[in-house]
Amino acid sequence: MSWLNRDVININDFSKEELEYLFSIADKFIDIKYKEILKGKIIANLFLEPSTRTRISFEVAAKRLGADVVNVTGEYSSIKKGESLYDTLKMLDTYCDLIIIRSPIEGSAQFAADVCDNPVINAGDGTLNHPTQAMIDLYTIKNVFSRIDNLNIGVYGDLKYGRAVISFIMAISKYNNKIYAISPQQLKLREEVKDELLSRGVKIEEFSSLDQVISELDVLYVTRLQKERFADLAEYEKVRGSYRVDIKSLEKSKPHLIVMHPLPRVEELTYDLDKTSKQAYFRQAKYGIPLRMALLSLILGAEI
Ligand code: NCD
Repeated sequence: MSWLNRDVININDFSKEELEYLFSIADKFIDIKYKEILKGKIIANLFLEPSTRTRISFEVAAKRLGADVVNVTGEYSSIKKGESLYDTLKMLDTYCDLIIIRSPIEGSAQFAADVCDNPVINAGDGTLNHPTQAMIDLYTIKNVFSRIDNLNIGVYGDLKYGRAVISFIMAISKYNNKIYAISPQQLKLREEVKDELLSRGVKIEEFSSLDQVISELDVLYVTRLQKERFADLAEYEKVRGSYRVDIKSLEKSKPHLIVMHPLPRVEELTYDLDKTSKQAYFRQAKYGIPLRMALLSLILGAEI
């Protein structure tokens, strides 16, 4: 399938070959500050949930390619007056060439793709899908290890509600890796996610403490407790602070272990790791730019 005009909704829709091709284009953009290949294009950033990296890196990526960006939020658009998502999307589709959407509601990105003639990119909807973050995560691993397979991958934290980590698991399990799913009991992977992985023959095992497995891991992907997804705040308070990664918790790790995190971090990842060689989360954030430049240029048919 071609990348031209393609919607990006779910990481499972992309083959390894398509992802490899995307990464080869991202490589070309790594050191490019400005290349005017999307001049005249207007991109809509429709963000109905908070975001720092995703929204800004899409905007920066677009601007580095010469495109213009309009930012639309729930707070300062007519959504606040009660306008429907359908009508909002209809307008953006009329005014812009590509729509990026983030929403707390599962399925919003697919809904947007159904409503809009122009391509739609899912910048995170609900608790399952954040496909472009997963692409960045794989690209980071490829750049660190020069391969994406034969690695022991630990995913640690809120595996129940974390869409970034769930999309990462879906992505990394396309390759031959062993996955260690580490979380407190209340934050384990949902049955539907586990069933899908098991039906695909993915090597995945569940653990309750990081200490049990830390010495085996090549990658430790940490994720924030998703406070805003808890229906009952009392349940959130019960698990708050139940997991944390600091230098001490990595004492038994392999020398080459890297710690990844989609960010934002709150209490689960301490700042003492930032200056160590294990820190890969800022690098991961940085790769958001070339990866999203590659994505926008392929979808909008730029001459690369
Ligand atoms: C994530 C998200 O919004 O799902 N952030 C991101 O895009 N890097 C992770 C999170 O909020 O914990």
